[in-house]
Amino acid sequence: MTVVGPFGLSLRDQVLEADVQAGLAAVEEGLLEATKSSVPFITGAAQHLVHAGGKRFRPLLVMLAAQFGDPHAPGVVPAAVVVELTHLATLYHDDVMDEADVRRGVPSANANWDNSVAVLTGDFLFARASHILADLGPEAVRIQAAAFERLVTGQIMETAGPQNGEDPVSHYLDVIAGKTGSLIAVAGRFGAMMSGADERVVSIMTQYGERIGTAFQLADDVLDIASDSRESGKTPGTDLREGIPTLPVLHLRARAARGGSPEDRELCALLDGDLTDDARHAEALAALRAHPALEQARRDTVRHADEARAMLAPLPECGARTALSQLCDAVVHRAG
Ligand code: IPE
Ligand code: IPE
Ligand code: MG
Ligand code: MG
Repeated sequence: MTVVGPFGLSLRDQVLEADVQAGLAAVEEGLLEATKSSVPFITGAAQHLVHAGGKRFRPLLVMLAAQFGDPHAPGVVPAAVVVELTHLATLYHDDVMDEADVRRGVPSANANWDNSVAVLTGDFLFARASHILADLGPEAVRIQAAAFERLVTGQIMETAGPQNGEDPVSHYLDVIAGKTGSLIAVAGRFGAMMSGADERVVSIMTQYGERIGTAFQLADDVLDIASDSRESGKTPGTDLREGIPTLPVLHLRARAARGGSPEDRELCALLDGDLTDDARHAEALAALRAHPALEQARRDTVRHADEARAMLAPLPECGARTALSQLCDAVVHRAG
């Protein structure tokens, strides 16, 4: 029994473990191949975050979902490469939007070079993902295009904020399902689909991916407050500094709107002020870390992960199903 990857999955089945490890190794090769350009500068920029690491959560999900058909089918590894490349490209763009200086424990592309290099490298990665995707056929292209539209819509709606009196929490949940759930749903769907698993499994893996993806983003938003940069490889409090209200802050504001304690109202006032000021930012971060709203958001994260796990019930009992279930805990309890 070996522990696989940063999620600490203990795969008791040796065949499953060998399959997953071999699949992930092939994905690494595919990522390096796909990020090579005839222009050395572009290769350097594109491989900057590939070499920096990352959890490879989406490729792992592709590999596990592929276990319900033929995991060695030719489309499985390229599909995982497409999903990870797309994710990678969105990270280059996201760090420009969020003015983030650190990613995967190294300077973000925008910090290392500048915004133009980061945006264009992201575009380059999308182009390379499209090349590979084209060979997977028109249905795969349509699925990816629809998910990408949802992802981008989520990112735009996050920037735009709730519209016409929309409830902030339901806006937030729509945003994270779009910007993160959509692509993780594709990981589950492609894994099952490329392996030739039956339609029912493809549909379950799509829904599971969407739900665990939402839990994954909820955990990311809790970690933005709770974790330190050694664990996350990112700068804590980036959402606060950028004025992006995530669930812990929304819970706090809802408490304050219902009356709340003087501390709740004080913290809201602090959050309404200038958080580009380092001292105020540190104070807000420390107060949020100790606030029950953070615990409330953690409970919501666990609930979403539990809902994802429940979706696995109709699948045949096997090592992959157990691993997918373990993944629901790992996503919630991860430190980075
Ligand atoms: C970060 O994704 C962006 C989100 C959608 C939360 P990951 O947490 O998967 O980032 P890496 O790939 O491990 O760096
Ligand atoms: C990232 O969301 C979502 C996408 C890249 C599509 P965040 O901005 O919350 O992710 P991190 O915290 O920077 O990784
Ligand atoms: Mg970000
Ligand atoms: Mg962002």
